[in-house]
Amino acid sequence: MLSSVKRFVKQKARPMITGIAQQVWVEQGEASVDERVDARLAEAVSGTLVALVDERIDRAPKLTARNLPMAPDSADLVVPIGRRDDGELPVPPREMWQIDVPDDETYLATGREHLARMVEILDANGAPQEDWGAVLELGVGSGRLLRHLADHAAEHEVWGVDVDEAAVNWLSEHLSPPFRFAPCSTEPHLPFDDRSFGLVYAGSVFTHIAELVDTWVLELRRVTRPGGWLFITFQDQHWVDEIRALDDDHWIGRRLEAGRAHVDRLGVDAWMVSLGRANTGAMVIHDRDALVRRWSRFFDVVAVEPEARSLQSGILLRRPG
Ligand SMILES: C[S@@+](CC[C@H](N)C(=O)[O-])C[C@H]1O[C@@H](n2cnc3c(N)ncnc32)[C@H](O)[C@@H]1O
Repeated sequence: MLSSVKRFVKQKARPMITGIAQQVWVEQGEASVDERVDARLAEAVSGTLVALVDERIDRAPKLTARNLPMAPDSADLVVPIGRRDDGELPVPPREMWQIDVPDDETYLATGREHLARMVEILDANGAPQEDWGAVLELGVGSGRLLRHLADHAAEHEVWGVDVDEAAVNWLSEHLSPPFRFAPCSTEPHLPFDDRSFGLVYAGSVFTHIAELVDTWVLELRRVTRPGGWLFITFQDQHWVDEIRALDDDHWIGRRLEAGRAHVDRLGVDAWMVSLGRANTGAMVIHDRDALVRRWSRFFDVVAVEPEARSLQSGILLRRPG
């Protein structure tokens, strides 16, 4: 790709632009036409290459084994130190929230509510909090749920990982201690020893993982201790029906409608549909029964609960002891 761009510039673009520039600039009495043409060409070519990298590499759904850049638009990188008052855990800046809510109170309340629902499901299925031990949240985002586990973190290690390195850096500067954070990549590999955690959870993360889905689940299995728990929320036909029934003009409904031909194959001849395939930007929907069948090869499937996190269903898995 790079060599064909260079060839095109050398053989075609440069002579053409030099000819035109000579006519214009020489008429205007400008000197060093060559230098100026070279400078303009370098500018144009570097723009094209940046666009190519962006399109061909950064957005390539197949190239999943990579870190997402923390600040893709900056040439140099300076990671700010956080400021933290003693006492209350700070609320992250709104652009990190990943949830459409009007204010800090609602942001905090939805996190508390989503975590409480998970705790309720775990509790009802023989996994009370006192049995969890160390906890990992995959796709911790802005720490919306994790922050409500501060008491647990006083006694046990509580970790959050995410491919969004900028978010992880904010969390590391502002919510650690009591929590611990590390960035991960879209490659199913986590920086933890085997059997490190008693509970691993992922809220609305497998709703964005379109590639290597089972390999991710197996990686989570590796870091879960035997007898430990895994709780994952996902979008299924119930979620689709509820979104379709909503009487508003939301982008999620419009995207579902645009992908109707694919979505309606769920449970017929498809176990998973991904609308879009860009890393983290994909909208992934699973057939519930097929997902249970698939993951029961790796875990004991303990419960499947509709509306475990808003309209998403939740699956509770246990690593055999
Ligand atoms: C919808 S947000 C949910 C964030 C958080 N769990 C919450 O409930 O607020 C999805 C998160 O998953 C992260 N993510 C997507 N794919 C991931 C992967 N393969 N590994 C880790 N995190 C991932 C995204 O960066 C994003 O922070």
